[in-house]
Amino acid sequence: MLIHVTDTLPKPEFSPQIAHIAQAVQPFHVMKILAQAKALEAQGRSIIHMEIGEPDFASLPCVHQAASQAAAQGLTHYTPTMGLPALREKLAEFYGTFYHATVSANNIMITPGSSTALQIVLTALINPGDKVLLADPAYPCNRQFVRLLQGKVLAVPVTDEQGYQLSLQSLKAHWQAGIKAVMVASPANPTGTVIEQAELLAMAQFLAEKDAYFIVDEIYQGLVYGRPAESILAHDNLPDNVIVINSFSKFFGMTGWRLGWCVAPDHLIPVLDRLGQNIFLAAPTPSQYGALAVLEDEALAELEQRRQTFETRRNTLFNAMQQAGFSLKVRPQGAFYLYWDVSELTEDAEQFCADLLQAKGVALTPGRDFGDYQAKQHVRLAYTTEVDKLVLAVQYIREFVKAFKGS
Ligand SMILES: Cc1ncc(COP(=O)(O)O)c(C=O)c1O
Repeated sequence: MLIHVTDTLPKPEFSPQIAHIAQAVQPFHVMKILAQAKALEAQGRSIIHMEIGEPDFASLPCVHQAASQAAAQGLTHYTPTMGLPALREKLAEFYGTFYHATVSANNIMITPGSSTALQIVLTALINPGDKVLLADPAYPCNRQFVRLLQGKVLAVPVTDEQGYQLSLQSLKAHWQAGIKAVMVASPANPTGTVIEQAELLAMAQFLAEKDAYFIVDEIYQGLVYGRPAESILAHDNLPDNVIVINSFSKFFGMTGWRLGWCVAPDHLIPVLDRLGQNIFLAAPTPSQYGALAVLEDEALAELEQRRQTFETRRNTLFNAMQQAGFSLKVRPQGAFYLYWDVSELTEDAEQFCADLLQAKGVALTPGRDFGDYQAKQHVRLAYTTEVDKLVLAVQYIREFVKAFKGS
């Protein structure tokens, strides 16, 4: 028997050398709440989960069938980096029927989740030192992606009076040299608010004149209430600076399948393709076959039912919170979130969330995850659970606040 000499030597010392840019990346603080909630559940406590930013519904059976059928047929190899041609065509068709937008399949890139689309698009645009303007609060990962590329984040505070969104006016007010791109989401996470189409178009035109890109995250489109689903791509006279991000995660209910896409102007397609080849090679093949099925009319009809369920939940939760005397300044028009100003109750939203969880078993997300501006005064409530649980949660929050105020 051969004995390797090295096996007998002591393990060499090694000092970790993690890159400082990676060291500076912030975690999702909600994971702490989630871990505490799970620990309480393990002790037998019942928890109402309103911290989770994904639909509670499982993905549709047609998705599972199409994906497993494809896998059984041996369709388990890489697709082209830009995505399965049939899926790109189907999405282009979907833009026509669902959004009344003319989009060419050639401009669509399929990615592993929209997270990768965001990362790859920013990689295509940002040189070290370039500035990216975005709202505070906003989806946290965007700031991290910009910093990983050594870009500079210009986080513009947005208030309830502004519907927690950037506008043409705020772009003009905060304009400065070196801004390479502006990022918005409509509807937004964590506020659920939208930017009207005329405003979005005006912002795109202003940015084109400034030679800056406009990255519009439409991942919560489809999940809008009392208004039609809309895409900025429906405008015929859109300048070539607009990039749309979307996903199968939220409206299509396929978070775990890790599939998203972006729609980019012609001049960006070759660089996105090259970056994709190097960064992820191709999005998961069975997921792409599953996605083909979810774009069929029957599946879309089921998703419309789910959208209505979310609308009922939003109405119930919003009304219950107001009846309980909690001031919600903005009625969100989409996604599955309410952003609640708790400044009358606490100066530390994170502690408030931790105490509420311990006392009443209701899990919420502290504002800190979404930025700095008034982050300690806000919490996000996700209505990704059933209506009766939402009603119960408001009752528990009310009892907690009563005891809290009394103490
Ligand atoms: C605004 C927004 N954009 C993008 C994402 C990323 O989602 P995914 O990678 O699942 O498509 C999320 C996830 O919560 C989000 O809220």
